[in-house]
Amino acid sequence: MSFKSFLVVASLAVSVLIGLVIVRGSAAQGAGVTGAATGPKAVKIGLSLDTLKEARWAKDRDAFVERAKELGAEVTVLSANSDDTRQVADVESLITSKVNVIVIVPHDGKAMAKGVEVAGRAGIPVIAYDRIITDSALDLYMTFDNEHVGELQGKYILEKLPTTKPIRLVRIYGSRTDNNAVLFKNGQDKALKDAIASGVVQVVHEDWADDWKPDNAKRIMNAALTKHGHNIDAVLASNDTTALGAIQALKEEGLAGKVVVTGQDAELVAVQSIVSGQQSMSIYKPVKALARRAAEVAVALATGKPVIAKAELNNGKREVPTILLDVVTVTKENVDSTVVKDGFHTREEIYGKP
Ligand code: BGC
Repeated sequence: MSFKSFLVVASLAVSVLIGLVIVRGSAAQGAGVTGAATGPKAVKIGLSLDTLKEARWAKDRDAFVERAKELGAEVTVLSANSDDTRQVADVESLITSKVNVIVIVPHDGKAMAKGVEVAGRAGIPVIAYDRIITDSALDLYMTFDNEHVGELQGKYILEKLPTTKPIRLVRIYGSRTDNNAVLFKNGQDKALKDAIASGVVQVVHEDWADDWKPDNAKRIMNAALTKHGHNIDAVLASNDTTALGAIQALKEEGLAGKVVVTGQDAELVAVQSIVSGQQSMSIYKPVKALARRAAEVAVALATGKPVIAKAELNNGKREVPTILLDVVTVTKENVDSTVVKDGFHTREEIYGKP
C-alpha cells in the first residue's frame, strides 16, 4: 500500500464559527487494519525529542509510550541532545524505519521545518508537541497555553509584592531557539505592560538563557547582582531550570528566600524549593494528559481517523490545527491540591519521609 498521506484539514462551515478544525489522518500502511498474510500491523510512531535534560521530558515520553502501547502502537523514541543536525537525522532515520506518524519536540522550531519537509515528502504526518515548528506544512500542534503560562508568572509578581515602591525585576527568558520562550515572554509582557509603563515595575536586567541551562541563568543573575547589588525584589525566571540557576546565584549572596522567584514545569526539585521557601511559584503543566492525548491523536492520524482541534495557530506558513491544554499556578499553599492530587509527585517526594 502506498505510504502517501492524504491529510486534509476540513474547515466545516459550522466549525469555522466555533473554532473547530478536523484533521484527517492518512490510513498509512494499513496501520491497525488486517494485512493479507501477516495479520494486523501495529501503528508505528516516531517520537523525536529535543532533549531529556529537564525532568519533564522523561515524564512526557513515558506517558506517551504507555498510552501508545495501550492502543497497540509501537513507539521509537530518539533524543537529539539539543543538536539540530542530529534531530533532522533522527527524523530521517524514523522515516527510513517506516513509521506511520512522527511526533516532534523541536530543539529549534525554525530548523525543524526541514524535518517536516522530509516527512511530508515521504507522506508521513507530523505533530509538533509542546513547541511549534515554524514555516512548515505542519499537520497538527499539541501544546499548553504558553502565553497564559507567561501571564500567570507576571501576575504572580504583581500579586506577591507590594506596589507602594517600584518592584526591581530581573527577567530571565528561555532559549532563543524555542518559540515557546517567546510566547512565555509575550504573556509576561501582557501581564506587566501597565506596571512597567507606570513605573510600578522596573526591569533592572534581562537576558535569554541559551538552551534553558541553569548555568546560563546563573550567569545572567550574577550579572544582575554585580550591577545592582542586593537591590533586587524579584526574578521572573521562565522555567524551573532557569529559576534553579538564579537561586544558586542568590544563595551565594545570602538572598535565597528573600527575593521572589518564578518558574515553570513544577519539577520535583522546584516544588521542594517552593515548600522550603526559596522558589516562590511554578506552573504545573499536566504533561501526562498532553502526552496521552498526543499518543491517541498520533494513532488516529496514522489510521485515518478524524481528530478534532479547537484552535488554530499560524506558524508562518499555515494555520495549524492546534490542541491546547491549560495550566495551573503552584505555590506552597496549593501543592497538595495540584501536583500531589494529580500524582505528578508524591508528598513523600516533596516533603521527605514523615
Ligand atoms: C517547555 C518548558 C520547558 C522548556 C525547557 C519549553 O519549550 O514548554 O516546559 O521548561 O522548554 O525544556
